[in-house]
Amino acid sequence: MEERSKASGEEIRERIRAAGGDILDSERFQRGWKIRHHNTNVAQHSLRTAAAGIRLCDMLRKKGFEPDEREVVRACLLHDIGMTEETVHGKVAWKKAYEHPRESARIAVEEYGATEDMKNAILWHMWPICVKPPGRLTGWIVVTADKIATSQDLRKKEI
Ligand SMILES: [Fe+2]
Ligand SMILES: [Fe+2]
Repeated sequence: MEERSKASGEEIRERIRAAGGDILDSERFQRGWKIRHHNTNVAQHSLRTAAAGIRLCDMLRKKGFEPDEREVVRACLLHDIGMTEETVHGKVAWKKAYEHPRESARIAVEEYGATEDMKNAILWHMWPICVKPPGRLTGWIVVTADKIATSQDLRKKEI
């Protein structure tokens, strides 16, 4: 398919670091390497989400859209930052689906200066499990990138 992003893995990693290096280096994000999530962990899943987000930005630009890549990358890296071993495991799924986005959005605003669009993208990233769909382009990209990353997590594929 011609619209596919041609960016190499190395370029994608550089673009993630350019937009979210402070997040990657933060203690809270680093803790995610130890929190299990699907067949991987929260940090790896979040990196995959950011990589998918960048590729979606590339595809959308070719279609005439103007995604804010910095916002997309940061929202992707932070969308599950509120997950802990406790909230990921041992609670009923519907409760988990509502609680961790709220906690992630709170942390994103308070600790990482998230914009309103980033906050909303994080709050509604579980759509359609949550009722409210994301309202803005950043939100739609994060929702889609999260699903792509989750399918990669389930296949145990490296980014
Ligand atoms: Fe999530
Ligand atoms: Fe996620």
